[in-house]
Amino acid sequence: MTMDDATNNPVVLEARDLRKTYRLGRVPVPVLKDASIEVREGEWVAILGASGSGKSTLLHLLGGLDRPDRGSGEIRHRGRRVSGLRGGALNTYRNRDVGFVFQFYHLLPELSVIENAMLPRLVPGGFVIAALPLLIAMLGAALGAGLGWSIGGGVLPDADVPTTGKIAVLAGTWAVVGAAAAVLVFQLAQAFVERRRIRHGDHATAVRRTLEEFGLGPRLEHRPSQLSGGERQRTAIARALAAGPGILLADEPTGNLDAHTGREILDLLRRRHHAGLTIVMVTHDPKVAAYADRVVRIEDGRVVEPGTTPEIDAPE
Ligand SMILES: Nc1ncnc2c1ncn2[C@@H]1O[C@H](COP(=O)(O)OP(=O)(O)OP(=O)(O)O)[C@@H](O)[C@H]1O
Ligand SMILES: [Mg+2]
Repeated sequence: MTMDDATNNPVVLEARDLRKTYRLGRVPVPVLKDASIEVREGEWVAILGASGSGKSTLLHLLGGLDRPDRGSGEIRHRGRRVSGLRGGALNTYRNRDVGFVFQFYHLLPELSVIENAMLPRLVPGGFVIAALPLLIAMLGAALGAGLGWSIGGGVLPDADVPTTGKIAVLAGTWAVVGAAAAVLVFQLAQAFVERRRIRHGDHATAVRRTLEEFGLGPRLEHRPSQLSGGERQRTAIARALAAGPGILLADEPTGNLDAHTGREILDLLRRRHHAGLTIVMVTHDPKVAAYADRVVRIEDGRVVEPGTTPEIDAPE
């Protein structure tokens, strides 16, 4: 889709007057100062800017991965405030409404290509969530074992407590340990079954098809460390697209790649863009930005269209 096609489309993602200030100890580091941007359905927008100008910061805010300074501006996705989302609704936004390609891939090293690509589906209710009760169960087991050792092993002197009492305390302790172990085994079994179910379900078929389209068919069971840079990036893009988001937020998608591999990635994005995907892409390279319909720049914490200069705050 060309820019002319998209100019009359509805705005799907919009940020107004975002401020973002990091803190280094007590020193405030203002990065975004009233940054605003509008993205229309089907548009491909490139955000250009020097290193450290706040490109990743802005993209993280747009993706709901971080929040702007309290009380500053707002972000809307299809008219709905992203800044107001919490919990499950925020997860849905991050995993289904938008897809995010990180500047440095962020693939999980212990998962295979196909598992990494399926992550957005695994996160809500999948085996990653199972890790929390598992942790609690392990803590319970450790506490129980500690209690068992200290109570049973001599904190209570032999003479003071009758044998039946000691046996009761020990039995109780080991019941706790047993229960915790049972929960742990149950969680592990559930995670295993869930993983199998997801790996063989419809969604897995869709993800596999995307990976094959991206030329990763022969690499599905590889770990990220066994992939080339281009293959890692293609896996990261497949992951971002796995849940079928309407908008892709890509942070320097070609930043770590040689020119040839970079062009392959951009061609792949272009195919998806022609199929209707809205793309917001961050880059410091004007040649990469040229793939987009529209280019904006980050200068002095604001988003400016080329040919315009950012307003300078009047001194107070
Ligand atoms: N967590 C943080 N704490 C403090 N300062 C930060 C933090 N994250 C980023 N910064 C600072 O904010 C500024 C903007 O960072 P950001 O990562 O958004 O830049 P960028 O435009 O993406 O740069 P690059 O092109 O190098 O990726 C930088 O000066 C950086 O040092
Ligand atoms: Mg960056």
